[in-house]
Amino acid sequence: MSATNRRSKISVIGAGFVGSTCAHWAASKELGDVVLIDINGDAAKGKALDLFEASPVEGFDSGLQGGSDYSLTKDSDVVIITAGLPRKPGMSRDDLLATNSKIVKECAQNVAKYSPNCVLIIVSNPLDAMCHVALQASGFPRERVIGMAGVLDSARFRSFIAMETQTSVEDVQAFVFGGHGDTMVPMPRYVSVGGIPLQQMLSKEKIDQIVDRTRKGGAEIVELLKTGSAYYAPAASAVQMVESIVRDKKRILPCAVLLKGEYGVNDLFVGVLAKLGAKGIEAIPTLELNAEEKGMFEKSAGAVKGLVDDMKRLGLN
Ligand code: LAC
Repeated sequence: MSATNRRSKISVIGAGFVGSTCAHWAASKELGDVVLIDINGDAAKGKALDLFEASPVEGFDSGLQGGSDYSLTKDSDVVIITAGLPRKPGMSRDDLLATNSKIVKECAQNVAKYSPNCVLIIVSNPLDAMCHVALQASGFPRERVIGMAGVLDSARFRSFIAMETQTSVEDVQAFVFGGHGDTMVPMPRYVSVGGIPLQQMLSKEKIDQIVDRTRKGGAEIVELLKTGSAYYAPAASAVQMVESIVRDKKRILPCAVLLKGEYGVNDLFVGVLAKLGAKGIEAIPTLELNAEEKGMFEKSAGAVKGLVDDMKRLGLN
């Protein structure tokens, strides 16, 4: 990792749109050598080779390998699990529970076998439930199993705020708490646009519209794409988390984390702010929530609990 001179190794499980876009960004940012794994080993190998052949033109220097054999992932520093079916129009993320829990379980077991010290980033949906599956299947401590949802939901929130305020996305700081679903909790009270609180720039009505669009941000893309779900913003978000880990940046990013008493929640993965460094989650700085935010956060945690209970009932975890 960063303390040594060796390159970091990043494996991506699932070479679909999200996985291959993760590989693209991780390689082009030179975050480390990248391995792409898929049950369709030739597709993973082909995409890795294609991406490597882009590197002389684009001028990035990252190793790229692909296949179906997990031994390729041996001693990875970070592994992103994207495998699973995506949503189709009209489906909720929860409809994917039974299929994707089996897939994620198998992936996490294989990853843990070859990279027992890696940090796992989960992207497969339904996100918060899949984090529980991966935690159990890997046997890893909570510091090394992290769900990617908050960075994505916050990126959508930030994009919509930039559009409405006609300001640069670069100046919009904002985050979303809670589960990756309809009950997610965008936090307008903590938004700043170049240091200016959002409430001083937009009416409550406009802010409420942005919050609503953020909650439905994933579905908006599914409706447009028709054959699957978003991949550019999800992949960019996962890669930002990878960067904070492999470069030990200690960024504070919204992530799904197994809470153990923080915010009054126990043993559930829920989106909160976390500090990401070489060890994975290095701190969970807690934020003051007002009564309304607390109520929405608890409702969202309750929705995650519902899914976890469903999985137990169905014998999925
Ligand atoms: C989304 C899906 C990937 O939010 O959950 O786009």
